[in-house]
Amino acid sequence: MNFEIKYKDARARIGTFSTKHGKITTPTLMPVIHPKKQTIKVKDYGAKMVITNSYIINKDEELKQKALTEGVHELIDFPGVIATDSGSFQLSVYGDIDITNKEVIQFQEAIGTDIGTSLDIPTPPYVRREQAENELNTTIARAHEAIETREHMLLNSVVQGSTFTDLRTMCAEDIGSMNFDIFPIGAVVPLMEQYKYADLVDVVMSSMKGLPESKPRHLMGAGHPMVFALAVAMGCDLFDSAAYILYANNNRLMMPTGTLRLENLIEMPCSCEVCTKYTPEDLLEMEHDQRAKLLAIHNLHISFAEIRQIKQAIKDGTLMNLVEERCASHPFLLDGLRRLKEYNEDMELLNPSSKESAFFYTGPESLNRPEIYHHQKRLNNLNFEDNDKLIILPHSRKPYGKHIIRESLHNKKDEKLNKTVFFSKDYNPGSDWSNADIIIADVPFGIIPLELDEFYPLAQNESPSIHDMNAIKFVQDSLKKFSKNYEEILIHKGIIDRFYKEDETDFLGVSSDIILPTGKIDDFKRLNMVADYQFGTGSGKAIFGDDPEKLEIEKSKKTKKIRSIKEDDEIVVNMRANDGFLILSDIGAKRLHKHSPSPKNRVIINGEVAEFARKGKSVFSKFVLDADSDIRKNDEILIVDQDDTLLSYGKSLLSSKEMLEFNIGSAVKTRKPKNEL
Ligand code: GUN
Ligand code: ZN
Repeated sequence: MNFEIKYKDARARIGTFSTKHGKITTPTLMPVIHPKKQTIKVKDYGAKMVITNSYIINKDEELKQKALTEGVHELIDFPGVIATDSGSFQLSVYGDIDITNKEVIQFQEAIGTDIGTSLDIPTPPYVRREQAENELNTTIARAHEAIETREHMLLNSVVQGSTFTDLRTMCAEDIGSMNFDIFPIGAVVPLMEQYKYADLVDVVMSSMKGLPESKPRHLMGAGHPMVFALAVAMGCDLFDSAAYILYANNNRLMMPTGTLRLENLIEMPCSCEVCTKYTPEDLLEMEHDQRAKLLAIHNLHISFAEIRQIKQAIKDGTLMNLVEERCASHPFLLDGLRRLKEYNEDMELLNPSSKESAFFYTGPESLNRPEIYHHQKRLNNLNFEDNDKLIILPHSRKPYGKHIIRESLHNKKDEKLNKTVFFSKDYNPGSDWSNADIIIADVPFGIIPLELDEFYPLAQNESPSIHDMNAIKFVQDSLKKFSKNYEEILIHKGIIDRFYKEDETDFLGVSSDIILPTGKIDDFKRLNMVADYQFGTGSGKAIFGDDPEKLEIEKSKKTKKIRSIKEDDEIVVNMRANDGFLILSDIGAKRLHKHSPSPKNRVIINGEVAEFARKGKSVFSKFVLDADSDIRKNDEILIVDQDDTLLSYGKSLLSSKEMLEFNIGSAVKTRKPKNEL
């Protein structure tokens, strides 16, 4: 399987793979084609790939002969990519079928399917563990047999294990290590029919844990567009839909936010060709078959539109906004999203560290996004031990430093400031606050050291000014944890107003005559903090040294933001304008390399391609031998060989887990060193 990632967001990816019948871009939807009853040409509505059932073809003598002589593409009159299912579903309904796994594989091969499926056992949710284990053993044994039997076609192997998350992971690891091409996640239809979305999230995420990143995954039987965004965010690439026709047969219209009954409609709900041409009355007056066909066409349009919208959101880095929007449309979908919180770490593992779009807070669920977890983790890189004084300020316009300092600290003559009351714990009137650590407390990132106020997404986010209780609690908890490190604390009254009832706070004492620092952010301190946050503890000192006098800091005339840092006329690092990341240069890379022990900040590549990296050519995943497990897409990284010789540096295009698992595609966009390092 030649699966390659183009764009990423959360665990979602836009990927491509090729087959004998064309190239597919995922995520995509495969309409289910009934080999005998199909009346709609799904290709006309956006289908590049379909799925049909080899068991039904095999059972019908006429279909079977035609498929064997002319091929399945001719049989169902679809020139694109065809996947076939095996009869497992029939097996699960009828309990027994009269064809063996081996025969099913051979038959799919004989009719020329592009992607075949072995005869897995779809163990339903909530069965006894013993049943799940026994059936799983059969499924895995059949997977082995399928690999041995397969000749040319691509092959699915379905993850089973019922609702036992450990069995799902075990099955996924087992078949994931074998040479299959696509991994469907099976037996989830009952969960979706019963709206058990929290359990669906458990099943999908525990399956993902064991599956390789380098192959597409198919959420089997998921055909309702309202689950697509959530499923894609978890890493699902393919969907199949018989629902578009089943719903249509029942006068039901699919929408990305749920299902509508035609009988209840006074207006048609969308702008597709059906909804703009007919009224609900027109449709209700038609013969069943004509109406069902038109509703199926609406359902297909809606489903493909949702897939397109999801793809755009992945590209923009706004997929979780869409997921939150979709999951808000049904309480049980919201359960699914809330359950996803338990998988914070797995979600963050593949999430890019910088995105094109701002982080928009849409409600309490946004607190569970990977960016928040990532920020909490990276805060641990910072060293706050040297200081025993802390000033906590409320938010302002972003970047905070530019506005806060001027508004509430610097200009002591400001009317507003004279009215401001600061609370302090163990406040000592004689204290000098000029070197205190300053943080902003805000939704949704909790605490933001002032020096990080330009770093993505701490500057690139918006949240409502009227806070919900979860957000308030989150800020309170963050402050409580963080302020433990300090002896003396000043809190701006704005924080108390915003996040506490006066009798709730631990911060005692009121004062209006505190002498405040002049409050300009020190450039040197900023650079040190950003480097530690981005590259790990002590990186700032390693890159910038002890002596601020040695550095020339160049700022943008327009924005006053730092652009580059030079030493003896040579660039040490640049600071990227859109996300505040430090971008390495020869000197910066060499110092970071010397400071951080392998594999920290490194992508370790095969020495045979060392020259390509030195010349600034992209690093392909297949040459990556190891990588720092903390690397995410868009991080700045060092490129070294097995002996830890620094070859070059660049921007990662994948998370480290993906670099290690992919054998095609680029892993790092290399920056060409000026001189040999
Ligand atoms: N279609 C829906 N669920 C399943 C499943 O678990 N296995 C197979 N083979 N097909 C399915
Ligand atoms: Zn419509």
